[in-house]
Amino acid sequence: HRTAAVIPAAGRGVRLGPGAPKALRALGGTPMLIHAVRAMARSRAVSLVVVVAPSDGTAEVRHLLDEHALPERTEILVVPGGDTRQESVRAGLDALPADITSVLIHDAARPLVPVDTVDSVVEAVRDGAPAVVPALPLADTVKEVEPGAPGRPEPVVATPERARLRAVQTPQGFDLATLLRAHEAIAVSGEGATDDAGMVERTGVTVVVVPGHEEAFKVTRPLDLVLAEAVLARRRA
Ligand code: C5P
Repeated sequence: HRTAAVIPAAGRGVRLGPGAPKALRALGGTPMLIHAVRAMARSRAVSLVVVVAPSDGTAEVRHLLDEHALPERTEILVVPGGDTRQESVRAGLDALPADITSVLIHDAARPLVPVDTVDSVVEAVRDGAPAVVPALPLADTVKEVEPGAPGRPEPVVATPERARLRAVQTPQGFDLATLLRAHEAIAVSGEGATDDAGMVERTGVTVVVVPGHEEAFKVTRPLDLVLAEAVLARRRA
């Protein structure tokens, strides 16, 4: 039973504002991607990390990884990503050696996930769940709208019961064969997906949720960088 982590880090991070690809932006002086790799490598269960780099940036990413201290017992591969997150994840999965039976998919954009959260996802997969996502209850009430023209008020079509909703995070954990089947089914159907567990769900496999962590939030917009810096400062205090 060997578990690998795949880190899709090939996105441009447009919503964060202009600059380097998101995963390469610094947090507390260290690139976000390095934090994310360390977060995976900190788990005793993870012996291999596959970093999916921007296709024009694999050498730069390899260099960054060599420059920063990472646990010796963790093997690290770098592969080029694709145009979509889904293609990037697929590239990472294709690079896995044959002895890997379960896999974590972790966004580079969630650099501060605590090791306990990683471990609880791995444990649920090893206990037999084919697909596991960490998630948190929502603070905000969520409305479904009928999207209209930009700038126009949008009519509300539904208000799902908040207590039944969860915001999902990463790492998401999978039995590798289950995730590969889901990727093949999606590739055939030509549909897109923003979330790996969602793809597995569509193949009829039950996905389960384990408790996420507020520090596993996704760094997407400029305000998220402020929060991430504050979390790091608190950890270092
Ligand atoms: O854009 P979003 O925040 O959903 O990206 C989530 C993760 O997917 C990020 O870590 C990003 O680098 C990665 N990604 C990727 N390849 C793409 C697009 C996004 O690896 N083509």
